[in-house]
Amino acid sequence: MSSNVKWIERQTADDKRQQTELMAIGNIPRHVAIIMDGNGRWAQAHSLPRAAGHKEGINSVRDLVEAASTIGIEYLTLYAFSTENWRRPATEVGILMDLLLHYLRAEFEELHRNNVRLRAIGKLNALPKPVQKELYECIERMKDNTGLTLTLALSYSGRWDLTRAMQMMALDVRRRKLSPEDITEESIAQYLSTAGTPDPDLLIRTSGELRVSNFLLWEIAYSELYVTETLFPNFRRAELYEALAVYSKRERRFGQTSAQIAECKETTPEESKFGDQTRLKKILSALRS
Ligand code: FPP
Repeated sequence: MSSNVKWIERQTADDKRQQTELMAIGNIPRHVAIIMDGNGRWAQAHSLPRAAGHKEGINSVRDLVEAASTIGIEYLTLYAFSTENWRRPATEVGILMDLLLHYLRAEFEELHRNNVRLRAIGKLNALPKPVQKELYECIERMKDNTGLTLTLALSYSGRWDLTRAMQMMALDVRRRKLSPEDITEESIAQYLSTAGTPDPDLLIRTSGELRVSNFLLWEIAYSELYVTETLFPNFRRAELYEALAVYSKRERRFGQTSAQIAECKETTPEESKFGDQTRLKKILSALRS
């Protein structure tokens, strides 16, 4: 639904209540990443062509972006097209690219009005020229927005990104801009296309497959995983809230013991918002030293 009203202004009382309950638990992840899977199976189950599944998937994207934004998730990263997806039949690839173009054109105003900042990661120059043009224009126009950061992973794979990062690091070593001793986990992260974005706190995969499928390989080292049987076209805000509720009960230990985490929570109750990894890591490293 498109209107001039902001999402927060048209939120239903029931949605607000559900979000308030989740927020009261106080553990909303800063960054949620989603492997959107099951569009084809959804279409098959409805005796429809695969394209219909992708189209319905866009309705899920719209609903999830709105819900993520209003509940205060800071970063939402969607795996929309992998480097491996280029191997699909040309007609399906064409449909996916058309849908992406259509999404950007149809949703830009609404996303912008709602303060969403758009980003894209992946081998973007492999995308069709009209998609690249629309994407770069949208990103540029939304770059100063301060609300939800929506990152679309397009022609993306974790190994592609790591390979590219290593090539750039090797070049910088050759140019004497980087010395091998300076290669640390932090400096590697700066060379990835996700630089500047906190690691995902929660990685969701729809449609029940137990794989990470080359998504954010470096970044998900400590992410909580949530796999649901729900096919992506059926994965709407109610399913997202379910995932958030499950996440809120998880204990993130970052290699520490439960006792250490409990002690950390007791001594610094204001830091119990485990979604804030940077702050939590600081406390954990203080505990270690
Ligand atoms: C996986 O389902 C889904 C994709 C490869 C594409 C995801 C794309 C969308 C949801 C629409 C476009 C997205 C945006 C952000 C505009 P599948 O086709 O592999 O499903 P299957 O495993 O059931 O065959």
